[in-house]
Amino acid sequence: MTNFKRTTVTSALPYANGPVHIGHLAGVYVPADIYVRYLRLKGEEVLFIGGSDEHGVPITIKAKKEGVTPQDIVDRYHGIIKKSFEDFGITFDIYSRTTSRTHRELASEIFKTIESKGGFIEKTNEQYYDEAAQQFLADRYITGKCPHCGNENAYGDQCESCGASLNPTDLINPKSAISGNVPVMRETKHWYLPLDQHEAWLRKWILEDHKEWKPNVYGQCKSWLDMGLQPRAVSRDLDWGIPVPVPNAEGKVLYVWFDAPIGYISNTKELCDSQPEKYGKWEKWWKDEDTRLLHFIGKDNIVFHCIVFPSVLKAEGSYILPDNVPANEFLNLEGDKISTSRNWAVWLHEYLEDFPGKQDVLRYVLTANAPETKDNDFTWKDFQARNNNELVAIFGNFINRALVLTQKYYDGKVPALGELTDYDKQTLEEFVNVKAEVEKLLNNFRFRDAQKEAMTLARIGNKYLADTEPWKVAKTDMDRVATIMHLSLQIAANLAIAFEPFLPFTSEKLRTMLGMKAFNWADLGKIDLLTQGSQLGTPELLFEKIEDEAIEAQVQKLLNTKIANETASYKATPVKEKVAFDDFMKMDIRVGTVLDCQKVPKADKLLQFRLADGLEERTILSGIAAYYSNPEELIGTQVCFIANFEPRKLRGVMSEGMILSAEDADGKLVLIKPSVKVTNGVEVK
Ligand code: 2FM
Ligand code: ZN
Repeated sequence: MTNFKRTTVTSALPYANGPVHIGHLAGVYVPADIYVRYLRLKGEEVLFIGGSDEHGVPITIKAKKEGVTPQDIVDRYHGIIKKSFEDFGITFDIYSRTTSRTHRELASEIFKTIESKGGFIEKTNEQYYDEAAQQFLADRYITGKCPHCGNENAYGDQCESCGASLNPTDLINPKSAISGNVPVMRETKHWYLPLDQHEAWLRKWILEDHKEWKPNVYGQCKSWLDMGLQPRAVSRDLDWGIPVPVPNAEGKVLYVWFDAPIGYISNTKELCDSQPEKYGKWEKWWKDEDTRLLHFIGKDNIVFHCIVFPSVLKAEGSYILPDNVPANEFLNLEGDKISTSRNWAVWLHEYLEDFPGKQDVLRYVLTANAPETKDNDFTWKDFQARNNNELVAIFGNFINRALVLTQKYYDGKVPALGELTDYDKQTLEEFVNVKAEVEKLLNNFRFRDAQKEAMTLARIGNKYLADTEPWKVAKTDMDRVATIMHLSLQIAANLAIAFEPFLPFTSEKLRTMLGMKAFNWADLGKIDLLTQGSQLGTPELLFEKIEDEAIEAQVQKLLNTKIANETASYKATPVKEKVAFDDFMKMDIRVGTVLDCQKVPKADKLLQFRLADGLEERTILSGIAAYYSNPEELIGTQVCFIANFEPRKLRGVMSEGMILSAEDADGKLVLIKPSVKVTNGVEVK
């Protein structure tokens, strides 16, 4: 659509069963916020809708685990999540929740409308039922052995060990996660959205009319459509959710994926009903053909936003459909998938405790690394490098030089613009092109390239100062210095505009320092943003260097998580039969220093050690070659060995003892060493 009057932007409603992390921010909320800020700066009519997704089974599981109610859980996390978004400058017009009354009413109304039009089919089938707990079991409440990899703790919908997606009936030896009992099959009735009946229009609408969607989104839709769509249940047997609003539906609630996207509409309604003079009627954001609807989501939500929700809207009949769904792929953390349950994440609230005031640094790094076309990795080293080498060295450095020099030569007043040299003109030309490029990229949801392009403004500024050298010119020609500083300050003012969508806190600080009042996107590219003679504020550093220690502390924190996870998942073997003290004393364990260590030819597993054992020297073979790829690095370290172990010949070499190692949870063998250096030959007791 090109001719629209306004834009409704939604961002996925996060489940209120845990805080939000960098993956959420990078995949959904920062890109959505950049886009909305950009539209607002252009003066367009736009609404930005957020909220918490407060239904669904994971919330009930968490509540059960903690011995509290699902409402307690969502109350807790809704507040935490909302605050994190505010802290990071995500400018929702409303951030509400799917447990609100407005939402319950609207979701029920939409269900009833579709049902009265015959838009659902009712089907009875058999599902697992826990007789002890007297309830049907949601897929997540059934565990058993994965038929693909043998993992004993696979869930009824997925095996987290091999990633296979499963049906509860695929599980071998299924058990109820509530009572631990073997569940039985029992008949139950549900409402289904017959997606197969929607397939034809969906094919045309997506595959023909929306070829411009991002390839990852288009591709996923195409493969769903090509597989053929099946009816999808939109109700569940559960006691947490919106009751199915028709007779004879006791114990049934709306499936969370039916009600959650309706949350976008109900939150709009809540906002418009409370401030009609500002936002108008809610219907104009959802039912007017002149409104463009955009859903910002992560890749796991594509099918729901491109196929299921549009079918719900179509079945209801009075709503517009999304114009685009700029979904992102996933962000990994230090090479591993982000996981709430394994605590493998950088939580936003914790980030701010460790890096107070550095919201924009994270926004910048997440956009620079945004998983727009493929999964991407966040590493603390990259975070540090981007801060120090880009934000500090380029952006911050330019602004600081421009302001400090103006302070020095002109008491912080914008000096007069004199005659432009060819070099000035050439600089301005480069600089004017940036606007069109950033705009084009933003219009195509290419935020990482857009930010990179905006950064060229700072590069241009830096280069301009470095090439014109006002500090040298000041010795001879103050008129020329005035022009250089004037232009530099105008570039700085442009940076404040260009970066408002990306780095809003920095932009605000910069605008205060430059004394800029009104500003909007149309001003970008102009060089009359600051008037001659106007007084600048006190220069302050926009960014500061992040030292190695701060980064090492974050890496260590993740390492601790890894160790804690491994410990939690490792089940120590049962303790062996008791031994008497005298028997233990028969073992002659000692410390020696490695004099030489090499691989044994033609024996993959063996390392041949030469040890100084306090008496003379001895040779010991040890089966740890797989874990020490550079055996020579062990030379000089101390190890523990059994000195009176019966000598044995291995591969033609006499091994005189046994070197002690610990076998880690993953089977890796690690040498046991004294914590400080001791005398060779001393005993281990
Ligand atoms: O995947 C999720 O986190 C879901 N809670 C997203 C829901 S988006 C929308 F439909 F509300
Ligand atoms: Zn598996």
